[in-house]
Amino acid sequence: MSIISSQNVITIIRKTLSILNPNIMAHGEIVGYILYKMLEYGQDYSEQEILEYTMLGMMHDIGLYRVDGLDNVADFELKNTWSHSIYGFLFLKYLSPMGDRAEIVLYHHLDYERYGLVKMKYEHVTACLALADKMDSFMRRDKTEMETDYFTRYRDIKVSGKALDIFLEAEKKFGITAKLVSGEYKEELGALLSRSQWSEGYKKSFLEMLVYTIDFRSEYTVLHTMATVNFAVQLGKLMGVGAREQKRMYYGALLHDLGKIAIPLDILESPGKLSDEEMRIMKAHVRITEIILSGLVEPDVLEIAIRHHEKLDGSGYHKGLTEKELTLPQKIVAVADMLSALYGQRSYKPSFESGKIEKILNKDADNYKISKPVVDCLMKNYDNIINNFEEQKGETIGLYLKIKEQYEEIWKKFEGIMQ
Ligand SMILES: [Fe+2]
Ligand SMILES: [Fe+2]
Ligand SMILES: [Fe+2]
Repeated sequence: MSIISSQNVITIIRKTLSILNPNIMAHGEIVGYILYKMLEYGQDYSEQEILEYTMLGMMHDIGLYRVDGLDNVADFELKNTWSHSIYGFLFLKYLSPMGDRAEIVLYHHLDYERYGLVKMKYEHVTACLALADKMDSFMRRDKTEMETDYFTRYRDIKVSGKALDIFLEAEKKFGITAKLVSGEYKEELGALLSRSQWSEGYKKSFLEMLVYTIDFRSEYTVLHTMATVNFAVQLGKLMGVGAREQKRMYYGALLHDLGKIAIPLDILESPGKLSDEEMRIMKAHVRITEIILSGLVEPDVLEIAIRHHEKLDGSGYHKGLTEKELTLPQKIVAVADMLSALYGQRSYKPSFESGKIEKILNKDADNYKISKPVVDCLMKNYDNIINNFEEQKGETIGLYLKIKEQYEEIWKKFEGIMQ
């Protein structure tokens, strides 16, 4: 049995991204739904293929999440057409399991008459996504100022005529717009998504993408979750945690800071000590993680995720639990999280050397804050644990740097066809 179902993985992604910006997610779901019905009408794709394209449709604006505090999607999209298309493409290409099809997102704002200027492998789906995207903007056109005859006027210029015909046929057959208005589409979309059957690797990869979307928001947190997972899994093995439990630790550690999606970047990147008010906001991340994950993961995984700031003497948050209520995996993840923060460079501190880390962790263990046996195990194996992490971390940094570099490259490459 798997620890998280495919459907719940999707729900976690939707819930998390909705918290960061509900408008982008709502727009994504409508576009995903329109695309789904268009592809269903064409009957050229299997259900699992349609499902993947629908997911892509839902996440086509994921590149917009790089910018904090947007509320008017339509407005922002116009100004940053290429910027978010490129980021979205790179995120999906390198971080999601759908990498091969990411180009669909790259070209979702490209005018149809320019398709010949670029090499496209998925031209038809790209044209359908672009149309679905414009259709949603058109339906909310008070914000986008599209002319009433937009689609006929720009047939085969801005939008593909073939995609437009498919939409119109699908509209006749399925009543797409009526379902969008009544809200019925949500159920239908949910039913499609519930039929996803993903492998463990595929699910992991989607959740990792979500975590990177959050951690890559700040230079200082690029490695935080990956380091926490790595340290936790190593410590779990060393302390004889069973295989099934180790898996739960993996997921618990992976999801432990999901709630940080709701914390503003200026607090996450604050260079000094946080004020009381800022600290209160920062601490809310645990509660938000709980809201996102409740009912979607096994209770054991949820508890590992939301207890990483609890202290043995009851002085932690958010519940103020004490030692006897905390399990070994929970105590391990709490130490792994601290180690990750101490070892990594943060906005408010440089990376600490081993002597200083040892002193801080031992002091906390002696003061009955974190588990002494876990800290002892860590100290006994310190160099090994750090070396193993150092070997693995290149991969994450590599992804981060690749996205940064390629962003610039793609800008340059497409300068000619951008308008
Ligand atoms: Fe877009
Ligand atoms: Fe945390
Ligand atoms: Fe953390």
